[in-house]
Amino acid sequence: MRAPRGTQDILPGTSEKWQYVEKKLTDICRRYNYKEIRTPIFEHTELFQRGVGDSTDIVQKEMYTFEDRGGRSITLRPEGTASTVRSFVQNKLFGLPNQPTKLFYIGPMFRYERPQQGRLRQFVQFGIEALGSDDPSVDAEVMALAMNAYEELGLKSLKLVLNSLGDKQSREDHKNALVQHFSPHKEELCADCQVRLDQNPLRVLDCKKDKDHPAMATAPSILDYLNETSREYFEKVKAHLDVMGIAYEVDPNLVRGLDYYNHTAFEIMSEAEGFGAITTLSGGGRYNGLVEDIGGPETSGIGFAMSIERLLMALEAEGIELPIEDSLDCYIVALGERAEKEAVRLSYQLRQAGVQVDKDYLQRKMKGQFKAADRLHAKYVVVLGEREIEQDAVSVKDMKSGEQIELPLDKIIGFLNKKLAGGNE
Ligand code: HAM
Repeated sequence: MRAPRGTQDILPGTSEKWQYVEKKLTDICRRYNYKEIRTPIFEHTELFQRGVGDSTDIVQKEMYTFEDRGGRSITLRPEGTASTVRSFVQNKLFGLPNQPTKLFYIGPMFRYERPQQGRLRQFVQFGIEALGSDDPSVDAEVMALAMNAYEELGLKSLKLVLNSLGDKQSREDHKNALVQHFSPHKEELCADCQVRLDQNPLRVLDCKKDKDHPAMATAPSILDYLNETSREYFEKVKAHLDVMGIAYEVDPNLVRGLDYYNHTAFEIMSEAEGFGAITTLSGGGRYNGLVEDIGGPETSGIGFAMSIERLLMALEAEGIELPIEDSLDCYIVALGERAEKEAVRLSYQLRQAGVQVDKDYLQRKMKGQFKAADRLHAKYVVVLGEREIEQDAVSVKDMKSGEQIELPLDKIIGFLNKKLAGGNE
C-alpha cells in the first residue's frame, strides 16, 4: 500500500524541522499579536463556492468534495481564509472589544492539483487574517510578518511582489477594459481563457498557456484604472513598507487566483537557484466584502498564507540548516535482572524530573547498549550493573569528555539535572 498521490509522510528526522518552523512561526505571531484559530478540516461546500469564488480554478477543478452519509455536500478545505471568516461570523468575533481581530492558523489544506515539486494535494498552510480594519498599516503589517518569518529562518533570496487590484469601482472599470481588449482575440485564447473572459476577465492575465500571446503585453493595466481612493490607499501601503525598509516590486499583472481580493495583493517569491519551477512561497491580499458575502456585518480583512512545504524547499535551496539538536540527555545501560528493574524505576523517575531518557529494550550486551547510546547521541550514560546494584550506586559517563564517575543511586537525578541545566536551557 502506498500513500495517495500528492501526499507525503513526514518522518522523524524531518518532523523536527516542521516542529522548529511551526514554533518559530507561532512565536512571530505572538510578537505581532495574532492569536491562533483552529477550524474544522471540512466545511459545507457552499462556503468555498461563495468564499473562494465559483469561477476560480480551486472551486471548479480542485476541491475534494463528497456527500456525507446525511446527504450534505462536504469539502475538505482548500485554503484557510473562508473558514476563518465563517468562524469570525458564526462566533461573532466582530463583537469582541479588541479589534481588529488578528488570527493565525497552521493546518492541512487539500487541492486536487497535478502534483509536482512544491505542489501537493495535501499541504500545510500557515496563514494569518486581520479582520476589522482597513487601515493601510495593517496591509503593511501582514507583509512585514511574512517577510520577517522567512528572514528569521535565514532565507535571503526573497522578492516581495505587490499590486493593487483597486476597489469595486476600479475593478469594474478595469474589467470592462480587459473585455474590450481581449474580445477581438477571443478565438485565439485557450479554452479556459474564453470562459474567463466572460466570468472573470482578470484571470486571463494570470494564464500560463496564453502568457506569450501578443495581446497580453498590451493589456490594460489595473494601475491605470485605480480611482483616487484606491490610488491613495496603495500609496499609503507602499509608504508603510518603505518606513520599515521592506523592499518590494510592483507588478501590475499580479492578480492572484482567488476571487475575493481587492486593493492590496501580494506574493513572495524565492529567487534561490535550484528552487524549482514554482517560485511562489506565499500569497495574500485584502478582501473587503468577503465577510458580508459569508453573512456577516460589513468588515474589511486582509491576510496571507504560505505552505510549510515550500518554505522547507526554499530553506534547502539556500542551503540553510535549521539549528535542530539531535541528542539524548541520558541512556541507561543495565545488565542483569535486578539492574533492569532498577533501570525501569530510574528512567521513570528521571523522566518525571524532566530528563530525556532512553534505555535498552532488546536485551543487548554492554557493548551493544553503549553503541545504541552512541547512535542516539546520548550526553550521559548511566551504567547499572550487578556490582553497582550491590552497592546502591551508579556509574555515570560523560560521553563528551569520556569522564566516568561513581555516585550513590539517590544522587543521580540531582547530578544529571544540574549537569544538563546549562545545555538544556
Ligand atoms: P493561495 O495563493 O492559493 O492563497 O495559497 C497560498 C500559499 O499556499 C501558496 O503561496 C503556497 O505557498 C501554498 N500552496 C497553495 N497550493 C499549494 C499546493 N498545492 N502545494 C503546496 N503549497 C501550496 C490562499 O490560499 C489564500 N487563502 C491566502 C490568503 C490568506 N489570502 C488572504 N488571506
